[in-house]
Amino acid sequence: MPFIEHVSDADLERLALERVVPALQDFGFCYLDGVLGEVAGGEVLQQVIDMHQAGVLQDGRLVGSVPGVHRSSIRGDKIAWVSGMERGCEAINFLLNMIDKMIAVCASRLESKKIRERSKAMVACYPGNGAGYVKHVDNPNSDGRCITCIYYLNKDWSAKEHGGVLRIFPEGTSFVADIEPLFDRLLFFWSDRRNPHEVQPSFNTRYAITVWYFDSEERAEAKRRFKNLTDSSLKPSS
Ligand code: OGA
Ligand code: OGA
Ligand code: MN
Repeated sequence: MPFIEHVSDADLERLALERVVPALQDFGFCYLDGVLGEVAGGEVLQQVIDMHQAGVLQDGRLVGSVPGVHRSSIRGDKIAWVSGMERGCEAINFLLNMIDKMIAVCASRLESKKIRERSKAMVACYPGNGAGYVKHVDNPNSDGRCITCIYYLNKDWSAKEHGGVLRIFPEGTSFVADIEPLFDRLLFFWSDRRNPHEVQPSFNTRYAITVWYFDSEERAEAKRRFKNLTDSSLKPSS
């Protein structure tokens, strides 16, 4: 994939239609490299490093707790949720706008889905102590999440040396897809049971930003189902 500098709306539309939509339809996932370019991607990275250094990244949550199992043996990342409107998140906001544009184009072609809203952005750091995230499905129980988008931020990453590979186990196939968390790479995949995935143990600081796009009907139904429970039981925040 060639380096895309100063990507225009027309380029985004073309990428969405020619690359993302067909790949989602045929394989259930897709990644693009060089989506923001060195400068804008570098600004996003700096904002994430600043958040990490300011101590705003906290332990990621688990849906339920399993007696005798420590959280960090399942999921060892540190996270923060951002809207993009916070001070110091301008480059992240630029990234989110770019992803929103691409998803809007995709949504116009993925007719069974009505994608009109998304979660906040989850800024995540695996600290490099060997922690990862065990095999899981983001949305196993129809919570509304339809497409997972992950933007990776790691320069000079060597999977051999640093691990941290995202491995997808596409449902109903015997193959796996190994995706390295490389700087300025944007990954899309269906959030449901079609794409179990894991983050392999990471031995270097590993940054990524994730957003989940909702199918409106499934999300509305999930909100009705969870109405009697606390807000926090319906994840993630939107
Ligand atoms: C997830 C998820 C939310 C959170 O990992 O799929 O929804 O609060 N995480 O960490
Ligand atoms: C998650 C997740 C993958 C990655 O947070 O749910 O699967 O590559 N992250 O960071
Ligand atoms: Mn996941």
